[in-house]
Amino acid sequence: MKIGIIGTGYIGLTEGLCFASLGQHVICYDIIKEKIDQLNKGIPTLYEENIDVLLKENLEKKTITFTDDLKVVLSGSEIVFLCVNTPENPETGECDLSQIMTSTESISKMSETLGNKFFILAVRSTVPVGTNKKVKEHMLKINPKLNFLICSNPEFSRQGSAIYDFMNPDRVIVGVDNEKSKERMGLVYKPLTDKGFPIFFTNIETAEMIKYASNTFLNIKIGFINEICDICEMTGANVEDIGKAMGMDKRISPLFLKPGPGIGGSCFPKDSIALAKMGNKLGLDLQIINASVNSNIARKNSLASRVINYSKNKLEGKTISLLGLTFKANTDDTRYSPALNLVEELAKKNIKVNAYDPHGTDKFKYMVDPKALDFIRFFDNAYDAIKDTELLVIITEWDEYKQLDYKKIYDMVQQKVIVDFRNILNEQEMEKIGFKYYYIGKKI
Ligand code: UDX
Repeated sequence: MKIGIIGTGYIGLTEGLCFASLGQHVICYDIIKEKIDQLNKGIPTLYEENIDVLLKENLEKKTITFTDDLKVVLSGSEIVFLCVNTPENPETGECDLSQIMTSTESISKMSETLGNKFFILAVRSTVPVGTNKKVKEHMLKINPKLNFLICSNPEFSRQGSAIYDFMNPDRVIVGVDNEKSKERMGLVYKPLTDKGFPIFFTNIETAEMIKYASNTFLNIKIGFINEICDICEMTGANVEDIGKAMGMDKRISPLFLKPGPGIGGSCFPKDSIALAKMGNKLGLDLQIINASVNSNIARKNSLASRVINYSKNKLEGKTISLLGLTFKANTDDTRYSPALNLVEELAKKNIKVNAYDPHGTDKFKYMVDPKALDFIRFFDNAYDAIKDTELLVIITEWDEYKQLDYKKIYDMVQQKVIVDFRNILNEQEMEKIGFKYYYIGKKI
């Protein structure tokens, strides 16, 4: 099938490449010309496992092309996947639909110039319940002869394993309001359903809500284990064992029960806030959802005081080292990263940070509060960042941090303290070297 992708970001690019690898002919569109030029040269615009290989392969096979000309996408596509960003509106906390509105207006107008050829618009971006219906009405108002069907097809890909997740979905969700959309969407996902991966058709509103309900539920699950972890730190109960044992109960499942520095990324934090706002608008007081939002913010804001406590209050005017800037490993994304809260809170307390992250530095510089930038220095390797600092904090679970020479690091940090917000090191080994090793869940 011929498919178009509007918005070549994390989802648009990875999934465009996946569809191409599954045998579809894909045209990816983005308004940023430099991005399109770079992709046409075979250079990935983001960090994601295997993306370079898939990009090269599909460009060579000519199963994917990149364009900044909307006409090219619309004239050549039976199904157009809308993959633009729907970030948090910083003023209201609601889902910002401006990119959805601008892109669908352009599609509507452009389609008229192409003789209103039929297409299906599959909305892949996360949008509040009722949005697809409103978008449809809006597009038809702009161009009453627009010949299209709209369906909701939310994505569930995790950054860092987006390609694997797309190719091995727990389920494909498609919200439709007619048989033709169902048949065409069934066809585009046939290479996956033929392998046994399930496709679940619902109405459009249900599909929109499945995305918010799933992400917010996982946000609650992680927030819950983080609170259990705080109890463990005061009582000596072992949070890892609790997570494992809870997970043995099939009703709970062991996944997403790992405590950490708080939840980041482009989805969970903003989707939970947007769902709470959706409830507000409907006149509902969604107490569990609101609590999960606040619990996560509180956890991330508590990181600096935890570090200060572990150093016995001896950090003012000093420099600590920080391993990790991205919100989790295997991505270059720093959106809502706990490292942002940590650095910003430390800066307010006149504590400087030497940081190293293998892929996140550029995006972190762009995201962090400019006031904190004077307090942070970025390094190209871990040892240069750690040298002559007071103590070491690990906040992202990159594999390479596990391989460092901690005997060498022992001589580099003044207070001989490691604070590990991801539990990636071995307690006995660190204590044998002589470190005071604080990890998530450890009784102080
Ligand atoms: C998420 C969803 O998983 C995905 O389905 C959706 O489409 C996009 O949002 P992503 O944001 O890439 O994916 O990251 P994910 O791996 O889900 O982790 C989210 C956050 O939770 C990270 O900050 C991670 O460190 C944290 N986390 C995850 C934990 O603290 N503990 C866990 O057990 C799992």
